Amino acid sequence: MNCTRLSNPALLSKQSATALLKTINGPALGANAPKLACVGLHAQSIASRRDFSSSQRTQLKMFFPKPNAPNIKITKAAWAHPDYSEDQMKTVTVDHRQPRDFPDRVAFAMVRVMRFGLDIATGYSHDKMTERKYTIRNVFLESVAGVPGMVAGMLRHLNSMRRMKRDNGWIETLLEESYNERMHLLIFLQMAKPGWFMRLMVLGAQGVFFNAMFFSYLISPRTCHRFVGYLEEEAVLTYTREIEDLDAGKLPHWAKTQAPEIAVNYYQMPEGKRSMRDLLFYIRADESKHREVNHTLGNLKQDEDPNPYASEYKDDKPHPRKDLKWQKPQGWDREDCI
Ligand SMILES: [Fe+2]
Ligand SMILES: [Fe+2]
Repeated sequence: MNCTRLSNPALLSKQSATALLKTINGPALGANAPKLACVGLHAQSIASRRDFSSSQRTQLKMFFPKPNAPNIKITKAAWAHPDYSEDQMKTVTVDHRQPRDFPDRVAFAMVRVMRFGLDIATGYSHDKMTERKYTIRNVFLESVAGVPGMVAGMLRHLNSMRRMKRDNGWIETLLEESYNERMHLLIFLQMAKPGWFMRLMVLGAQGVFFNAMFFSYLISPRTCHRFVGYLEEEAVLTYTREIEDLDAGKLPHWAKTQAPEIAVNYYQMPEGKRSMRDLLFYIRADESKHREVNHTLGNLKQDEDPNPYASEYKDDKPHPRKDLKWQKPQGWDREDCI
């Protein structure tokens, strides 16, 4: 059964529900057709249904319809998400690593410029944020955040082949990061479908950002990791504010919203812990990990050091890990992990 979750609690009239069912299932389906779309008892009013979509047609499309592959039972995720405990996720904090040299200052200045642009593009004003505005911001943020890991992983992959040298475990962590960011994007997209204007902005931002990252990483990979570290500091800040606003009662709709199915499956969210608030804790914890990983990679010798997050250590002391057991928001110094 195909289900479309519509989130506003306003009830659909019988007439509009019928029209919606027809749009989703297609005109060829009769009244007794087995494939009924589950519109649910709740749907949005026409005005509020436009979660940042500008066209009626896009809203009524299925979110991620199942592919037509009757022989396939399941297509598993490439990287299983590491386990985070509730207590660990609650210890994540907003933090900032002070720039220590000129490349750090360049990286931090670039992030400030990007943040300024993002604030304008998404209409950010901390006192006036709504669920809709936060969703726009999250979609935009996540569509950009998935780029650096892929660019860095790709360039290191090509570098390894071209120079016939080992990469020492960096590529997988970088690709896994971009995969994780794409999952964040898909999660928010399952909650709201962007319209043409948003898609255009994402397209433009990706075109510019991919190329900027590509050339920057060729010139100074260390600065790029530092840049991503600072970018992730902003991501942690954004999700922390979302949690705070939710707890302060400023986001009443999210207070009643459950995490979408894609998120429940990806994070293996336990029963009874699948609210929007729980989901924000998971995503914020991911961002804190990206912050730590990239600040750490920015502290290492790019050509020779092994990736600490893909390494096993000889002793039992705290070391960099994929999960949240030992957190270092400002990254691990080289002497502590190499
Ligand atoms: Fe993200
Ligand atoms: Fe991130």
